[in-house]
Amino acid sequence: MPLPKPITAIVFDAYGTLFDVHSVVARCDALFPGQGQALSLSWREKQLQYTWLRSLMGRYQDFAQLTRAALYWAAEARGLELAPEAATRLLDAYLKLAPYPEVPAALAALAARPRAILSNGTRAMLEPLAAYSGLAQYLDAILSVEAVGIYKPDPRVYGLATEHYRCPADEILFVSANGWDAAGAKSFGFATVWVNRAGAPLEQLGAVPDAIVADLAGLPPLLPAN
Ligand code: 2OP
Repeated sequence: MPLPKPITAIVFDAYGTLFDVHSVVARCDALFPGQGQALSLSWREKQLQYTWLRSLMGRYQDFAQLTRAALYWAAEARGLELAPEAATRLLDAYLKLAPYPEVPAALAALAARPRAILSNGTRAMLEPLAAYSGLAQYLDAILSVEAVGIYKPDPRVYGLATEHYRCPADEILFVSANGWDAAGAKSFGFATVWVNRAGAPLEQLGAVPDAIVADLAGLPPLLPAN
């Protein structure tokens, strides 16, 4: 289905969409043999829960702190003793996550429009990640929830993109592999593409994305030439 036009800018979620959060599995496995995948899954799940819970509690803590807290919870839940140096090694891996393989070419193919990240991550996490992965060359801006002190899917977060590009919400194409984030973005008013990497069911949140693709390679063909 072609997307509505005009599209002024394309805004991407970071973790899970451009960068594979589970590229930490190898490091987790090196520390805790045989437990890497389960630890990584539990860590990510708890990290997201903490974003939602802290937003509801009105107790913002930045994504680096919250990611650390989630890691300790996930390790303890699996009965794993996490030494401070091991925690630091795992948290450092978050600054060097691998981009999904199709991402650089897809971002390059979308060069006709400004492209940005809008993420829960702090700038201090996102900037090294974009630089290390080589994706920085394709991005015009990195927008962080830090500016509003609350997490997705609070509408104030998505508002950072309309503020940045000074255009109506429906002229921004928001791209996320997190189904709940795509729903939040659509509810805010963005044109939205859900990258359904895992073949998950559509979130039943009453906000349906404009298009669904299996990975980012499916995105460039959806966009009108200008
Ligand atoms: C991000 O904001 C939701 O973790 C995801 O990058």
